[in-house]
This record gives sequence, C-alpha cells and structure tokens, in this order.
Amino acid sequence: MVTGANPFRPSFGVSPRVLAGREDLLQDFDVALDEGPGSPLRSLLVSGARGMGKTVVLNELEDIARTRGWLVVRLPEGDGMLEELEASTVPALLAEHDTTAVRRRFTGGGISAVGSVSTEVEDRYPVRQSLAQLLGRLLDVLVGHETGLLFTLDEVQAASPDVVGRFAATYQHLVRDDREVAFAAAGLPTGIDQLLRQAGTTFLRRAERVHLAVLADEDVRTAARATVEDAGRSIGEEALERYARIVHGYPYLLQLVGYHAWRVAPQRPEITPDDVGGTRPLVVERMGRLVHAPALGALPEGQRAYLRAMAADDGPAATRQVAERMGVPMQQQNVYRARLIDRELVQAAGHGFVDFTLPYLREHLRAQAR
Ligand SMILES: Nc1ncnc2c1ncn2[C@@H]1O[C@H](COP(=O)(O)OP(=O)(O)OP(=O)(O)O)[C@@H](O)[C@H]1O
Ligand SMILES: [Mg+2]
Repeated sequence: MVTGANPFRPSFGVSPRVLAGREDLLQDFDVALDEGPGSPLRSLLVSGARGMGKTVVLNELEDIARTRGWLVVRLPEGDGMLEELEASTVPALLAEHDTTAVRRRFTGGGISAVGSVSTEVEDRYPVRQSLAQLLGRLLDVLVGHETGLLFTLDEVQAASPDVVGRFAATYQHLVRDDREVAFAAAGLPTGIDQLLRQAGTTFLRRAERVHLAVLADEDVRTAARATVEDAGRSIGEEALERYARIVHGYPYLLQLVGYHAWRVAPQRPEITPDDVGGTRPLVVERMGRLVHAPALGALPEGQRAYLRAMAADDGPAATRQVAERMGVPMQQQNVYRARLIDRELVQAAGHGFVDFTLPYLREHLRAQAR
C-alpha cells in the first residue's frame, strides 16, 4: 500500500517537486553570478504565456542566488515600489546585515527591541538618503562576504512602467559602478514589450530576454516519472507516452495531469495508462476555465472572432480561409493575426497558416460556441 501524499502541484505560483527542463537557463544564471558585474545574463527578462512557469523560474533563480549567500529583494508591487524599498525593505536588510550598525546598537547599552533597531538604522540611513545610497551601503557590506543582491519582479505586466523605469535607473547606476547586483523580471510577453518601450530603461533593453517555450516531451516524461517515483509509486512507458501527449509540453498541465492521474487510486502502486488517459476531459475543462477564459476576456471582439474562425479547423488554419470565414479582407486579417501573435495566443505554422499556441484553446472555443 502506498501512503504518500499527492506530489503534484497544479497551482499557479507554486514550485513543482521536480522541475522539468529549464536547466540551461538556470545554469547560465549561476555562471553569470560567478562572472562578475559585467555579465549580460545578470539581467533577465523572462516572458511566456500564462502557466508556462515564469514564477517558478523566478523562484529557482532566487534559490540559486541564496545558495551563494546573495540577498534577494523582491520588488514590492504597486506605485509605491521605490518608497517602500527606501523606507522599509532596504533599511530592514541593513539592520540585519550591517554589523557595524548592530555593534553600535549594542555598545549603546541595553538590549533593544526591534523598534529601536530600526530607529538606529534610520539614524544611520535616514529615509531622505536616496535609494541608491542605501543600496550602495548594503552592497558595501555584502562585498565583505563576496556576495551581492538579486532583485526580482514578477507580474511585470501589472507594474507601472514608469515605476519600473525609475527603479531601472537606480539599478543602472549600480551596474555602472560595478556593484554585485542582478535583476530578474517575469511577465506576460505584452507586459515585457510595454516595459521595453518605456524611456529611460537602457539597461532593460540590454537585458537578456528569455522566452519560456513549451517543454520537450522527453522532459515532461522524465519529470513526471521522477515526481511519481519520489513519492513512492511507479508509472510505465505507455502511461508516460499518453501523459506527454495530453500535456503538450505545457508546464501547468504536467502538474494537473499528474495530480488527477494520481488521485484515481492513490493506494495502488502503479499509475496506469488509463489513469492518465482518463484525465483528459478534466484537463480540457480546467484549461478552459483557468487559462483560456481569462485570456479571451481581455481581447477585443475582432480578435476573439479571429480565434473562433480558426477553431473551425482541426489543425493549423489557412489565413486566407480565416479571412473568408470572418468576411474581412486579408489586410484586416493580417492585423488581427499580428496582434494575436504578440499576445502569444497564436503562432505562425508555416507559410500562410496559423495555429493556437496553447493546448486546448480550440476545444475551449468550440465548447463556448455550443
Ligand atoms: N519547469 C517546470 N516543471 C514542472 N512544473 C512546472 C514547471 N514550471 C511550472 N510548473 C508548474 O506549472 C504551474 C504554473 O507555473 P507558474 O505559476 O510558474 O506559471 P506562470 O508562467 O508564472 O503563470 P502566470 O502567467 O499565471 O503567472 C505550476 O503548477 C507549476 O508548479
Ligand atoms: Mg506567475
């Protein structure tokens, strides 16, 4: 009998037990931290469709930095980002790591409560000091440990480009001074594009743009098997083949399929091909509700109509036919097509053809039409 809990994690923002793929990116970043301030891979802009694993990658990058003793600063959300960094986040890190501040506090007599630590630090680093100076001081301290600071920002598309731009200016300053810093941001492709168009973010434009693509089937099978086996059950080749066919390389589905296949009979030692195959209807429904419906809701009607016209085909759709079905000229079709490609809902599939980027969008659109 198997007693282990379900090891799959089909939730957004939650790191998987076993990471599939992404090794090259993570290793490059690890090397970049070694290489010193000039290394281009120290500034990463990670983009990808919803559920492609952007947050998971950011978490992994943070882990790599922490393993090396680096400090990680998650940039606060909202328009008060810089104020929050300046008024609390960075002073708190200084309070924790600046031993000279700590020493002064203790020689000052008495054991002080947290409140007075922050007073002490604020005395030393008044809020009116610019953020750059505060960060500079923190980096001075870190130099002593041969470590640095990694800044991360998730959900770029939700941040104000102006606020990120102002942070970028500060960061750029630190880079120019050869400080040990790194920066990794993640967001939907449109959010990253918008950020890059913002003035004053030269460093962002030079940052390495990493696009998270679908996982290779081989990586899906390897990770699925390892997740199952680490939790005390087994899964055979045939089941793994079916698994990869349902997942289509999409990370969220790797978790979702595994989660539901596991649940069929948690006490049984082996997960069978039928356990896996049986998850498909549920997978289609969940994908539709959690991924496709929100994405479609944000679209103008014309683009939605374009997708509906594509869904009439079982495979890639001919652009000429899409235009015909919509009753619009080719030129208009081209505009819709380009917008949908920017949003990564659609991809070119050879000359004159388009296809859906994410699995089960066709199924979702057809179900909607019914
Ligand atoms: N490399 C991976 N291997 C295995 N599972 C993964 C991998 N990347 C992501 N996942 C799983 O996929 C799901 C979605 O991941 P994540 O939340 O990172 O996506 P995201 O791109 O940040 O989505 P969103 O656009 O909603 O922010 C999670 O359940 C996560 O555990
Ligand atoms: Mg995310």
